[in-house]
Amino acid sequence: MPTRRLHAVFQGAELCSGAGFAMIEVVLLLAMLVRKFRFEAAGQMPVPVAHLTVRAKDGIMLRVALRDPDTTSKRTL
Ligand code: HEM
Repeated sequence: MPTRRLHAVFQGAELCSGAGFAMIEVVLLLAMLVRKFRFEAAGQMPVPVAHLTVRAKDGIMLRVALRDPDTTSKRTL
């Protein structure tokens, strides 16, 4: 279920009829990115804040590196 903030992304003069599909697609995209790249906190560690869901107080700064191709599958995105 999209959060209210994410949901606002899909609203203009018209309501996006692809919103549900896009919310599923983004999870698949994230899974593919995590498989191929390593994400590490850059600088300060994120400070969790509990709202309805847990978020980072000041966002999350990440350093992204390509995973070693020998330790990951040869299949591409
Ligand atoms: C992250 C991805 C997406 C974002 C941020 C997004 C955002 C939006 C926004 C803001 C509108 C309203 C535009 C307006 O009122 O002028 C819109 C409309 C629309 N979107 Fe999306 N959209 C996304 C993905 C998709 C996908 C994947 C599909 C189809 C599979 C789709 C199909 C549509 C359609 C058909 C409309 C027009 C709805 C209508 O006129 O009644 N969108 N979208």
